[in-house]
Amino acid sequence: MAEEQNKIKVKIDGITVEVDPGTTILNAARKIGGEIVPPAMCYYTNLEGSGGKCRTCLVKVSKGSEADPRPMPKLMASCRTSVMDGMEVQNVTSEEVQSARKGVVEFLLINHPLDCPVCDQAGECDLQDLSYEHGVGQSRYEFEKRTFEPISLGDKIQLHMNRCILCYRCVMVANQLTEKRQHGILYRGEMSEISTYIEQALDHDFIGNVIDVCPVGALTDKTFRFKNRVWFTKPVNAHRNCDKCCGKVTLWYKGEDVLRVTGRKDEFGEVHEFICNTCRFDKKQTADWILEKPTEIASTSVINSNHYTSFNPPAVIAKNEKLQLTNQEQLKRTERLK
Ligand code: SF4
Ligand code: FES
Repeated sequence: MAEEQNKIKVKIDGITVEVDPGTTILNAARKIGGEIVPPAMCYYTNLEGSGGKCRTCLVKVSKGSEADPRPMPKLMASCRTSVMDGMEVQNVTSEEVQSARKGVVEFLLINHPLDCPVCDQAGECDLQDLSYEHGVGQSRYEFEKRTFEPISLGDKIQLHMNRCILCYRCVMVANQLTEKRQHGILYRGEMSEISTYIEQALDHDFIGNVIDVCPVGALTDKTFRFKNRVWFTKPVNAHRNCDKCCGKVTLWYKGEDVLRVTGRKDEFGEVHEFICNTCRFDKKQTADWILEKPTEIASTSVINSNHYTSFNPPAVIAKNEKLQLTNQEQLKRTERLK
């Protein structure tokens, strides 16, 4: 009961939610879920100090609190602003927020190449989704985009600085999950770049997590690169007894082959239990794992195309023998998956 009294009320896009004091607007919105949740490119729940870098999560605080109802004068980064009792926030219902987000996307794309057709992150890239929602067809930037040669971070990780949006998530993984930090952001402003100080290999059991936390295709898995498009693969949750990490992963299948192994992401694209390099890079046989169930993927995600939990063949197939024959393989596969 005492706990109940401590909760504070906040209204986001007209929906009221009760949260603990100290909760950020972003996390309060996540508690409601759905379309009103602001996008977040740099905040990551399990990385201490993350957030406040990318500005994609901007919202309008139209009422500060019950005690001081004045609106906040500027749009606020929802990942870094705590809720107050009686606060009212606008995200999708504010024209101002939508237009600011459009501006943020334009800034993020100033140097980011539109190489989605050849980028391994395509289909699960936060910036790609954001660009579809808020981007415009043409850039107003007249200067040349800055370019870098791809850098090999050891034998398992590839860095494409061209695609980096400087969200700092990978730096925090290196800082917080490994014992010695060998990589960080060098220089300032337009010159900033992720570096490993003379391209030193990032040699640590948990460093593979930089791939999972990178919101774009700047850090990719060399053991998966160019092997397939993510929407042709089928994610399945699996686990194994691992003495280094939780051993809970998602296996990405193409046919019978495990093409890659990643940590399990929640509906906001975040991994909560980080996995070790052995699970990620060295266990690519089904026999290494105990399979659980198909991974749940948002119905709006391109990864969900072609899938699979309950295939309902159009009624016409059941009635038409010729169609049944031509779809035999697909129907058999469906039976197996039931
Ligand atoms: S490489 Fe990826 S995770 Fe690291 S700062 Fe750049 S965008 Fe963020
Ligand atoms: S997610 Fe809030 S500033 Fe990046």
